[in-house]
Amino acid sequence: MNGNVIIKNASQLVTCSGFKAKQGKEMSDLHVVEDGTVVIEEGIIKAVGKTEDVLTGFDKADVYARGFDIIDAAGKAVLPGFVDSHTHFVFAGYRAEEFSWRLRGDSYMDIMKRGGGIFNTVKATRAANKEELIETGANRLDSMVSFGVTTVEGKSGYGLDHSTEIKQLEVMKELNNRHPVDIVPTFLGAHAVPGDYKGREDAYIDYLIERVMPEVADRDLAKFCDVFCEKNVFSVQQSRRLLLKAKENGLKIKIHADEIEQLGGAELAAEIGAVSADHLLQASDKGIIDIAEAGVVATLLPGTAFCLKEPCAKGRYMIDMNCAVALATDLNPGSCFSESIPLIFALATLYMNISIEEAITALTINGASALDRAGTIGSLDVGKIGDVIILEYPSYKFIPYHIAISTVEKVIKKGELIFDREK
Ligand code: NIG
Ligand code: FE
Repeated sequence: MNGNVIIKNASQLVTCSGFKAKQGKEMSDLHVVEDGTVVIEEGIIKAVGKTEDVLTGFDKADVYARGFDIIDAAGKAVLPGFVDSHTHFVFAGYRAEEFSWRLRGDSYMDIMKRGGGIFNTVKATRAANKEELIETGANRLDSMVSFGVTTVEGKSGYGLDHSTEIKQLEVMKELNNRHPVDIVPTFLGAHAVPGDYKGREDAYIDYLIERVMPEVADRDLAKFCDVFCEKNVFSVQQSRRLLLKAKENGLKIKIHADEIEQLGGAELAAEIGAVSADHLLQASDKGIIDIAEAGVVATLLPGTAFCLKEPCAKGRYMIDMNCAVALATDLNPGSCFSESIPLIFALATLYMNISIEEAITALTINGASALDRAGTIGSLDVGKIGDVIILEYPSYKFIPYHIAISTVEKVIKKGELIFDREK
Protein backbone atom coordinates (compact mmCIF):
# COMPACT_ATOMS: atom_id res chain seq x y z
CA MET A 1 0.00 0.00 0.00
CA ASN A 2 1.01 3.64 -0.52
CA GLY A 3 -1.50 5.27 1.77
CA ASN A 4 -4.11 5.25 -1.04
CA VAL A 5 -7.26 3.35 -0.17
CA ILE A 6 -10.97 3.53 -0.85
CA ILE A 7 -13.24 1.99 1.76
CA LYS A 8 -16.62 1.70 0.12
CA ASN A 9 -20.21 0.54 0.71
CA ALA A 10 -19.97 0.76 4.52
CA SER A 11 -23.39 0.04 6.00
CA GLN A 12 -22.62 2.87 8.43
CA LEU A 13 -19.89 5.45 8.05
CA VAL A 14 -19.63 6.88 11.55
CA THR A 15 -17.73 10.08 10.86
CA CYS A 16 -17.77 11.68 14.37
CA SER A 17 -17.30 14.84 12.30
CA GLY A 18 -15.76 17.83 14.07
CA PHE A 19 -12.54 19.69 14.71
CA LYS A 20 -12.81 20.39 18.42
CA ALA A 21 -13.99 18.74 21.63
CA LYS A 22 -17.72 18.01 21.83
CA GLN A 23 -19.29 19.18 25.06
CA GLY A 24 -22.45 17.93 26.76
CA LYS A 25 -25.29 17.26 24.32
CA GLU A 26 -23.01 17.56 21.27
CA MET A 27 -21.44 14.26 22.33
CA SER A 28 -24.54 12.36 21.12
CA ASP A 29 -24.17 13.35 17.49
CA LEU A 30 -22.01 10.87 15.57
CA HIS A 31 -22.85 12.13 12.03
CA VAL A 32 -23.59 8.70 10.57
CA VAL A 33 -23.76 8.22 6.78
CA GLU A 34 -25.67 5.13 5.60
CA ASP A 35 -23.95 3.35 2.68
CA GLY A 36 -20.83 5.45 3.00
CA THR A 37 -17.42 5.65 1.39
CA VAL A 38 -14.17 7.23 2.50
CA VAL A 39 -11.25 7.95 0.19
CA ILE A 40 -7.73 8.25 1.59
CA GLU A 41 -4.87 9.45 -0.59
CA GLU A 42 -1.27 9.50 0.60
CA GLY A 43 -2.55 8.90 4.11
CA ILE A 44 -4.95 11.87 4.17
CA ILE A 45 -8.75 11.74 3.93
CA LYS A 46 -9.78 13.18 0.56
CA ALA A 47 -13.51 12.42 0.41
CA VAL A 48 -16.23 11.22 2.77
CA GLY A 49 -19.92 10.69 2.06
CA LYS A 50 -22.55 8.56 0.39
CA THR A 51 -20.95 5.91 -1.80
CA GLU A 52 -22.73 7.03 -4.97
CA ASP A 53 -21.75 10.67 -4.45
CA VAL A 54 -18.11 9.99 -3.57
CA LEU A 55 -17.42 7.43 -6.28
CA THR A 56 -18.96 9.49 -9.09
CA GLY A 57 -15.77 11.54 -9.10
CA PHE A 58 -13.58 8.47 -9.71
CA ASP A 59 -13.41 6.50 -12.91
CA LYS A 60 -11.95 3.00 -12.83
CA ALA A 61 -8.84 3.90 -14.82
CA ASP A 62 -8.06 6.71 -12.43
CA VAL A 63 -8.39 4.43 -9.40
CA TYR A 64 -6.06 1.94 -11.06
CA ALA A 65 -3.52 4.54 -12.19
CA ARG A 66 -3.25 6.11 -8.77
CA GLY A 67 -2.80 2.73 -7.13
CA PHE A 68 -5.78 2.75 -4.79
CA ASP A 69 -6.55 -0.34 -2.80
CA ILE A 70 -10.25 -1.01 -2.55
CA ILE A 71 -11.85 -2.40 0.58
CA ASP A 72 -15.49 -3.40 0.30
CA ALA A 73 -17.06 -2.71 3.70
CA ALA A 74 -20.57 -3.89 2.80
CA GLY A 75 -22.36 -5.04 5.95
CA LYS A 76 -19.78 -3.37 8.18
CA ALA A 77 -19.61 -0.17 10.22
CA VAL A 78 -16.62 2.11 9.64
CA LEU A 79 -15.34 4.60 12.25
CA PRO A 80 -12.31 6.78 13.01
CA GLY A 81 -9.52 4.94 14.83
CA PHE A 82 -9.79 5.10 18.61
CA VAL A 83 -7.58 7.53 20.52
CA ASP A 84 -6.38 6.20 23.89
CA SER A 85 -5.48 9.52 25.50
CA HIS A 86 -4.13 8.31 28.87
CA THR A 87 -1.71 5.40 29.33
CA HIS A 88 1.53 4.53 31.09
CA PHE A 89 2.49 1.84 28.58
CA VAL A 90 6.31 2.08 28.82
CA PHE A 91 7.42 0.24 31.96
CA ALA A 92 9.36 -2.80 33.14
CA GLY A 93 8.31 -5.44 35.65
CA TYR A 94 4.85 -6.46 36.79
CA ARG A 95 2.88 -6.20 40.02
CA ALA A 96 0.66 -9.29 40.01
CA GLU A 97 1.48 -9.88 43.68
CA GLU A 98 0.15 -6.45 44.59
CA PHE A 99 -3.03 -7.17 42.63
CA SER A 100 -3.60 -10.20 44.85
CA TRP A 101 -2.98 -8.06 47.97
CA ARG A 102 -5.60 -5.59 46.77
CA LEU A 103 -8.05 -8.44 46.33
CA ARG A 104 -7.61 -9.32 49.98
CA GLY A 105 -8.31 -5.69 50.97
CA ASP A 106 -5.05 -3.69 50.97
CA SER A 107 -5.56 -0.24 49.47
CA TYR A 108 -3.60 1.12 46.49
CA MET A 109 -2.18 3.97 48.59
CA ASP A 110 -1.24 1.68 51.51
CA ILE A 111 0.80 -0.52 49.16
CA MET A 112 2.49 2.63 47.82
CA LYS A 113 3.24 3.89 51.36
CA ARG A 114 4.97 0.56 52.10
CA GLY A 115 7.34 1.24 49.20
CA GLY A 116 5.45 -0.86 46.64
CA GLY A 117 3.13 0.46 43.97
CA ILE A 118 4.70 2.98 41.62
CA PHE A 119 8.09 2.57 43.42
CA ASN A 120 8.12 -1.11 42.54
CA THR A 121 7.81 -0.26 38.84
CA VAL A 122 10.37 2.55 39.19
CA LYS A 123 12.96 0.06 40.42
CA ALA A 124 12.37 -2.29 37.49
CA THR A 125 12.24 0.53 34.92
CA ARG A 126 15.49 2.07 36.16
CA ALA A 127 17.17 -1.33 35.78
CA ALA A 128 15.77 -2.06 32.30
CA ASN A 129 17.70 -1.21 29.17
CA LYS A 130 16.16 0.70 26.30
CA GLU A 131 15.80 -2.30 23.97
CA GLU A 132 13.78 -4.21 26.58
CA LEU A 133 11.47 -1.25 27.04
CA ILE A 134 11.12 -0.84 23.27
CA GLU A 135 10.28 -4.50 22.82
CA THR A 136 7.64 -4.69 25.56
CA GLY A 137 6.29 -1.30 24.51
CA ALA A 138 5.92 -2.46 20.89
CA ASN A 139 4.09 -5.60 22.00
CA ARG A 140 1.66 -3.50 24.00
CA LEU A 141 1.11 -1.20 21.02
CA ASP A 142 0.35 -4.24 18.84
CA SER A 143 -2.29 -5.31 21.32
CA MET A 144 -3.81 -1.80 21.35
CA VAL A 145 -4.00 -1.81 17.55
CA SER A 146 -6.01 -5.03 17.68
CA PHE A 147 -8.61 -3.05 19.67
CA GLY A 148 -8.70 -0.30 17.04
CA VAL A 149 -6.37 2.24 18.67
CA THR A 150 -4.46 4.37 16.15
CA THR A 151 -3.09 7.10 18.47
CA VAL A 152 -1.98 6.64 22.04
CA GLU A 153 -0.68 8.91 24.76
CA GLY A 154 2.17 7.54 26.88
CA LYS A 155 3.64 8.91 30.09
CA SER A 156 7.05 8.78 31.68
CA GLY A 157 6.97 8.69 35.49
CA TYR A 158 8.64 5.37 36.27
CA GLY A 159 12.08 6.96 36.47
CA LEU A 160 11.76 9.78 39.00
CA ASP A 161 15.34 10.65 38.12
CA HIS A 162 16.89 12.48 35.19
CA SER A 163 18.29 9.55 33.25
CA THR A 164 15.31 7.19 33.54
CA GLU A 165 12.68 9.85 32.81
CA ILE A 166 14.65 10.78 29.68
CA LYS A 167 15.11 7.08 28.83
CA GLN A 168 11.35 6.45 28.95
CA LEU A 169 10.66 9.46 26.72
CA GLU A 170 13.40 8.39 24.28
CA VAL A 171 11.83 4.93 24.13
CA MET A 172 8.52 6.51 23.12
CA LYS A 173 10.27 8.59 20.47
CA GLU A 174 11.89 5.47 19.06
CA LEU A 175 8.60 3.55 19.14
CA ASN A 176 6.88 6.43 17.38
CA ASN A 177 9.40 5.97 14.54
CA ARG A 178 9.29 2.17 14.49
CA HIS A 179 5.60 1.47 15.09
CA PRO A 180 2.65 2.59 12.96
CA VAL A 181 0.65 3.84 15.96
CA ASP A 182 1.20 7.54 16.71
CA ILE A 183 2.48 8.18 20.22
CA VAL A 184 1.93 11.44 22.08
CA PRO A 185 4.50 11.58 24.92
CA THR A 186 3.86 13.13 28.32
CA PHE A 187 6.47 14.05 30.94
CA LEU A 188 5.23 12.73 34.31
CA GLY A 189 8.36 13.16 36.43
CA ALA A 190 6.00 14.19 39.25
CA HIS A 191 4.35 10.77 39.45
CA ALA A 192 5.59 10.03 42.99
CA VAL A 193 8.12 11.42 45.46
CA PRO A 194 11.30 9.32 45.17
CA GLY A 195 12.74 7.92 48.43
CA ASP A 196 15.66 10.34 48.65
CA TYR A 197 13.25 13.30 48.51
CA LYS A 198 10.75 12.00 51.06
CA GLY A 199 9.42 14.96 53.07
CA ARG A 200 11.16 17.34 50.64
CA GLU A 201 8.54 17.40 47.91
CA ASP A 202 9.27 21.02 47.05
CA ALA A 203 12.95 20.21 46.53
CA TYR A 204 11.93 17.40 44.15
CA ILE A 205 9.71 19.83 42.20
CA ASP A 206 12.76 22.16 41.99
CA TYR A 207 14.86 19.25 40.72
CA LEU A 208 12.31 18.46 38.00
CA ILE A 209 12.04 22.11 36.99
CA GLU A 210 15.78 22.78 36.98
CA ARG A 211 17.34 19.47 35.97
CA VAL A 212 14.88 17.48 33.90
CA MET A 213 12.25 19.71 32.30
CA PRO A 214 14.63 21.92 30.29
CA GLU A 215 16.07 18.89 28.45
CA VAL A 216 12.60 17.42 27.90
CA ALA A 217 11.47 20.69 26.34
CA ASP A 218 14.68 21.47 24.39
CA ARG A 219 14.75 18.03 22.79
CA ASP A 220 10.97 18.02 22.21
CA LEU A 221 10.74 14.72 24.07
CA ALA A 222 7.24 15.44 25.39
CA LYS A 223 4.17 17.39 24.27
CA PHE A 224 2.53 17.42 27.72
CA CYS A 225 3.49 17.70 31.37
CA ASP A 226 1.38 15.83 33.94
CA VAL A 227 1.44 15.50 37.74
CA PHE A 228 -0.08 13.10 40.29
CA CYS A 229 -1.88 15.80 42.31
CA GLU A 230 -2.96 13.73 45.30
CA LYS A 231 -2.95 13.69 49.09
CA ASN A 232 0.46 12.40 50.26
CA VAL A 233 1.92 12.84 46.77
CA PHE A 234 1.96 16.40 45.30
CA SER A 235 -0.20 19.21 46.70
CA VAL A 236 -2.19 21.65 44.58
CA GLN A 237 0.45 24.35 45.23
CA GLN A 238 3.32 22.07 44.20
CA SER A 239 1.41 20.93 41.13
CA ARG A 240 0.61 24.51 40.14
CA ARG A 241 4.26 25.54 40.44
CA LEU A 242 5.46 22.64 38.29
CA LEU A 243 2.76 23.02 35.65
CA LEU A 244 3.14 26.78 35.24
CA LYS A 245 6.86 26.23 34.60
CA ALA A 246 5.98 23.51 32.12
CA LYS A 247 3.75 25.97 30.28
CA GLU A 248 6.62 28.47 30.14
CA ASN A 249 8.67 25.67 28.58
CA GLY A 250 6.06 25.18 25.86
CA LEU A 251 4.52 21.99 27.25
CA LYS A 252 0.76 21.53 27.40
CA ILE A 253 -0.86 20.40 30.62
CA LYS A 254 -2.61 17.31 31.95
CA ILE A 255 -3.35 16.52 35.62
CA HIS A 256 -4.05 13.29 37.50
CA ALA A 257 -6.79 15.10 39.40
CA ASP A 258 -8.99 14.08 42.34
CA GLU A 259 -8.37 10.37 41.76
CA ILE A 260 -8.32 9.11 45.34
CA GLU A 261 -9.07 12.16 47.51
CA GLN A 262 -10.84 15.42 46.70
CA LEU A 263 -7.96 17.87 46.58
CA GLY A 264 -9.01 20.50 44.04
CA GLY A 265 -7.17 19.07 41.04
CA ALA A 266 -10.12 19.79 38.75
CA GLU A 267 -10.24 23.43 39.88
CA LEU A 268 -6.48 23.71 39.29
CA ALA A 269 -6.85 22.27 35.78
CA ALA A 270 -9.43 24.96 34.94
CA GLU A 271 -7.37 27.72 36.57
CA ILE A 272 -4.20 27.05 34.60
CA GLY A 273 -5.81 26.08 31.29
CA ALA A 274 -4.95 22.38 31.25
CA VAL A 275 -5.91 20.49 28.10
CA SER A 276 -7.33 17.67 30.23
CA ALA A 277 -8.07 16.73 33.84
CA ASP A 278 -7.89 12.98 34.30
CA HIS A 279 -9.54 10.43 36.66
CA LEU A 280 -11.84 12.87 38.58
CA LEU A 281 -13.43 10.13 40.71
CA GLN A 282 -13.67 12.53 43.65
CA ALA A 283 -13.98 15.84 41.75
CA SER A 284 -16.18 18.43 43.47
CA ASP A 285 -19.27 19.91 41.79
CA LYS A 286 -17.43 23.21 41.55
CA GLY A 287 -14.46 21.49 39.92
CA ILE A 288 -16.77 19.87 37.37
CA ILE A 289 -18.43 23.20 36.52
CA ASP A 290 -15.02 24.89 36.34
CA ILE A 291 -13.62 22.41 33.82
CA ALA A 292 -16.82 22.52 31.73
CA GLU A 293 -16.60 26.32 31.56
CA ALA A 294 -12.87 26.39 30.91
CA GLY A 295 -13.15 23.79 28.11
CA VAL A 296 -10.83 21.34 29.87
CA VAL A 297 -11.47 17.77 28.65
CA ALA A 298 -12.58 15.47 31.48
CA THR A 299 -10.70 12.25 30.78
CA LEU A 300 -12.38 9.37 32.61
CA LEU A 301 -10.66 6.05 33.24
CA PRO A 302 -13.31 3.56 34.36
CA GLY A 303 -10.94 0.60 34.03
CA THR A 304 -8.94 2.02 36.93
CA ALA A 305 -12.00 2.60 39.12
CA PHE A 306 -13.06 -0.98 38.33
CA CYS A 307 -9.66 -2.43 39.26
CA LEU A 308 -9.48 -0.36 42.45
CA LYS A 309 -13.04 -1.47 43.29
CA GLU A 310 -14.13 2.17 43.47
CA PRO A 311 -17.29 3.71 42.01
CA CYS A 312 -16.61 5.16 38.54
CA ALA A 313 -16.37 8.93 38.03
CA LYS A 314 -19.71 10.70 37.53
CA GLY A 315 -19.56 10.62 33.74
CA ARG A 316 -23.31 11.05 33.19
CA TYR A 317 -23.42 14.03 35.50
CA MET A 318 -20.35 15.58 33.85
CA ILE A 319 -21.89 15.33 30.39
CA ASP A 320 -25.15 16.77 31.75
CA MET A 321 -23.08 19.62 33.20
CA ASN A 322 -21.76 20.30 29.68
CA CYS A 323 -18.29 18.78 30.10
CA ALA A 324 -16.36 17.37 27.15
CA VAL A 325 -15.72 13.82 28.34
CA ALA A 326 -13.00 11.56 26.94
CA LEU A 327 -12.54 7.91 27.92
CA ALA A 328 -9.18 6.14 28.08
CA THR A 329 -7.68 2.93 29.45
CA ASP A 330 -4.95 4.23 31.83
CA LEU A 331 -2.97 1.09 30.95
CA ASN A 332 -0.32 0.74 33.67
CA PRO A 333 1.19 -2.11 35.70
CA GLY A 334 -0.53 -1.12 38.96
CA SER A 335 -3.99 0.43 39.16
CA CYS A 336 -5.19 -0.88 35.77
CA PHE A 337 -3.20 -3.43 33.82
CA SER A 338 -5.47 -3.40 30.80
CA GLU A 339 -5.42 -1.88 27.33
CA SER A 340 -8.89 -3.24 26.61
CA ILE A 341 -11.08 -0.77 24.74
CA PRO A 342 -14.06 -3.21 24.91
CA LEU A 343 -13.79 -3.15 28.72
CA ILE A 344 -13.97 0.66 28.68
CA PHE A 345 -17.09 0.57 26.47
CA ALA A 346 -18.72 -1.96 28.80
CA LEU A 347 -18.04 0.08 31.93
CA ALA A 348 -18.98 3.42 30.35
CA THR A 349 -22.29 2.25 28.93
CA LEU A 350 -23.44 -0.18 31.62
CA TYR A 351 -22.00 1.40 34.78
CA MET A 352 -21.68 5.12 34.01
CA ASN A 353 -24.92 5.62 32.08
CA ILE A 354 -23.01 7.03 29.14
CA SER A 355 -24.79 6.31 25.84
CA ILE A 356 -23.12 4.32 23.07
CA GLU A 357 -22.91 7.48 20.94
CA GLU A 358 -21.33 9.50 23.77
CA ALA A 359 -18.83 6.71 24.49
CA ILE A 360 -17.75 6.63 20.84
CA THR A 361 -17.31 10.42 20.85
CA ALA A 362 -15.28 10.07 24.06
CA LEU A 363 -12.89 7.61 22.40
CA THR A 364 -12.53 9.44 19.09
CA ILE A 365 -12.87 13.21 18.66
CA ASN A 366 -12.79 13.92 22.41
CA GLY A 367 -9.79 11.61 22.91
CA ALA A 368 -8.11 13.57 20.11
CA SER A 369 -9.05 16.83 21.86
CA ALA A 370 -7.50 15.54 25.09
CA LEU A 371 -4.26 15.35 23.09
CA ASP A 372 -4.83 18.72 21.43
CA ARG A 373 -5.10 16.95 18.06
CA ALA A 374 -8.78 17.40 17.20
CA GLY A 375 -7.70 19.27 14.08
CA THR A 376 -5.92 16.27 12.58
CA ILE A 377 -7.38 13.03 14.02
CA GLY A 378 -10.47 11.71 15.83
CA SER A 379 -12.99 11.98 13.00
CA LEU A 380 -13.50 11.11 9.36
CA ASP A 381 -13.28 14.62 7.92
CA VAL A 382 -11.59 15.73 4.72
CA GLY A 383 -8.00 16.82 5.42
CA LYS A 384 -7.55 14.67 8.51
CA ILE A 385 -5.16 11.73 8.82
CA GLY A 386 -6.64 8.53 7.35
CA ASP A 387 -6.99 6.48 10.55
CA VAL A 388 -9.98 4.19 10.19
CA ILE A 389 -11.41 1.05 11.76
CA ILE A 390 -13.77 -1.42 10.14
CA LEU A 391 -16.02 -3.49 12.39
CA GLU A 392 -17.16 -7.02 11.67
CA TYR A 393 -20.77 -5.88 12.27
CA PRO A 394 -23.13 -3.53 10.41
CA SER A 395 -23.74 -1.09 13.25
CA TYR A 396 -21.64 0.81 15.80
CA LYS A 397 -24.14 -0.39 18.41
CA PHE A 398 -22.39 -3.77 18.37
CA ILE A 399 -19.30 -2.23 20.01
CA PRO A 400 -20.60 -2.44 23.60
CA TYR A 401 -23.23 -5.04 22.80
CA HIS A 402 -20.63 -7.73 22.13
CA ILE A 403 -19.58 -7.48 25.75
CA ALA A 404 -15.85 -7.17 26.39
CA ILE A 405 -15.01 -8.61 22.96
CA SER A 406 -13.37 -6.54 20.25
CA THR A 407 -15.58 -5.99 17.21
CA VAL A 408 -12.70 -4.49 15.21
CA GLU A 409 -11.90 -6.46 12.06
CA LYS A 410 -9.50 -4.13 10.24
CA VAL A 411 -7.41 -1.13 11.22
CA ILE A 412 -6.14 1.36 8.65
CA LYS A 413 -3.44 3.80 9.75
CA LYS A 414 -2.57 6.72 7.43
CA GLY A 415 -4.25 4.83 4.62
CA GLU A 416 -2.37 1.56 5.24
CA LEU A 417 -3.85 -1.67 6.51
CA ILE A 418 -2.02 -2.45 9.77
CA PHE A 419 -4.36 -5.03 11.32
CA ASP A 420 -6.63 -7.55 9.68
CA ARG A 421 -8.23 -10.18 11.83
CA GLU A 422 -9.12 -12.18 8.74
CA LYS A 423 -5.46 -12.72 7.84
O1 NIG B 1 -3.20 6.69 36.66
N1 NIG B 1 -2.30 7.38 39.93
C1 NIG B 1 -1.21 7.43 39.44
N2 NIG B 1 -0.79 6.83 38.35
C2 NIG B 1 -1.38 5.71 37.72
C3 NIG B 1 -1.01 4.42 38.34
C4 NIG B 1 0.41 4.12 38.17
C5 NIG B 1 0.85 2.84 38.82
O2 NIG B 1 0.22 2.36 39.78
O3 NIG B 1 1.87 2.32 38.35
C6 NIG B 1 -2.87 5.91 37.53
O4 NIG B 1 -3.70 5.29 38.21
FE1 FE C 1 -2.70 7.44 34.95
